[in-house]
Amino acid sequence: MAAAGLAHCLSHRPVPTILSWLLYRKNKSCYPRHYRAAICRELKVPLTIEEVPTRPIQPDEVRVDVHFCGVNFADILTCRGLYQESPSLPFTPGLELAGQVLEIGTNVNTVKEGDRVISVNNFSTMAEQCIVDQKKLWQIPDGISYQEAAALPVCYGTAILALEQRAQTKPGETVLVTAAAGATGLALIDVASNILQAKVIAAAGSDEKCQLALKRGAKAAVNYSQGNLKEELKRLTGGQGVDVVIDGVGGDVCLTALRSLAWEGRMVVIGFTGGSILSIPSNLLLLKNVSAMGVYWTRYQKENFPVFSRCMSSALQYYKEGSIRPHIGRVFKLEEINDAFEHVTQRKTTGKVILSVK
Ligand SMILES: NC(=O)c1ccc[n+]([C@@H]2O[C@H](COP(=O)([O-])OP(=O)(O)OC[C@H]3O[C@@H](n4cnc5c(N)ncnc54)[C@H](OP(=O)(O)O)[C@@H]3O)[C@@H](O)[C@H]2O)c1
Repeated sequence: MAAAGLAHCLSHRPVPTILSWLLYRKNKSCYPRHYRAAICRELKVPLTIEEVPTRPIQPDEVRVDVHFCGVNFADILTCRGLYQESPSLPFTPGLELAGQVLEIGTNVNTVKEGDRVISVNNFSTMAEQCIVDQKKLWQIPDGISYQEAAALPVCYGTAILALEQRAQTKPGETVLVTAAAGATGLALIDVASNILQAKVIAAAGSDEKCQLALKRGAKAAVNYSQGNLKEELKRLTGGQGVDVVIDGVGGDVCLTALRSLAWEGRMVVIGFTGGSILSIPSNLLLLKNVSAMGVYWTRYQKENFPVFSRCMSSALQYYKEGSIRPHIGRVFKLEEINDAFEHVTQRKTTGKVILSVK
């Protein structure tokens, strides 16, 4: 192992002893045999932080030293048993990470020890170490910090997939983003405004959130906790309606958004933070020739990997070009995982919530 790799090894807890150094030389591997992980032992109860033993990696696997991981609404739903996938208990939540490669399997040729990487790996990343298939790793380009890199995969991957691949958003079109000051909402504003040259109307639950959405590139904003969303959208579009809706709230907000679509408009459903799932009245689709579709971002990893991978590479490329910048709202420590979840469920998020694992 190179000197840099050894220095990295020595920076880990527990402090290395002569014995561990000899073991390192003997085993040619260099990582703590136990690591801290957030564990969901029972649904709907607070998570615990536990020391768990490492396991050997398989030939195609990579052991990653996690620096930061993103907190997503999906993590909270999963730990409440309300997500579309239910990992068996106990499990470690977390869908995304940014970190450094600690060890590679014998078949791995995409990354090497010491590389800086991001990954999307369902239910595993809220821990000091994560084992990932080599296919699920992307190199972090120079100039992107681990913290910012951790904010890219789920939110920007979803935003790129929803706006580019699914809605086929064109320059000059109007895009309505709901929960617009949240993590995914701000990523949608960033991609729609700065990559696709669309005009974003942000809809969010407070004046402060609307201000943030405007600051991050939205052309107009509506506080749907107070104003009449339907009338405001009519006024803002001169009665034409919006071309694209990306909705993560569901319920009445989703229905109003659907009713506010323009001729041949497209609505992409990404989630249901409001807790209610709308049954779509199909006559609304017919009247204005509109389309309603869904996005389940991580599922693309399994069903259409080239598209998934292209979204990840695009997010990194857009960042490198200086076209997009994630907005990080709060950073919590791994031990503060329950506070981080509460922050999201209490509608306090403005931008991405990140867990610092170091
Ligand atoms: N389908 C996919 O592949 C995919 C991928 C990523 C994200 N998503 C979805 O995108 C949405 C946003 O996720 P996120 O992780 O970025 O979270 P977030 O937007 O940072 O936080 C959730 C936001 O939802 C809004 N909200 C409305 N009613 C709420 C309620 N009863 N409880 C809590 N929040 C409520 C709040 O904004 P306001 O106060 O402004 O209303 C809140 O800030 C979620 O529906 C999530 O499932 C889906």
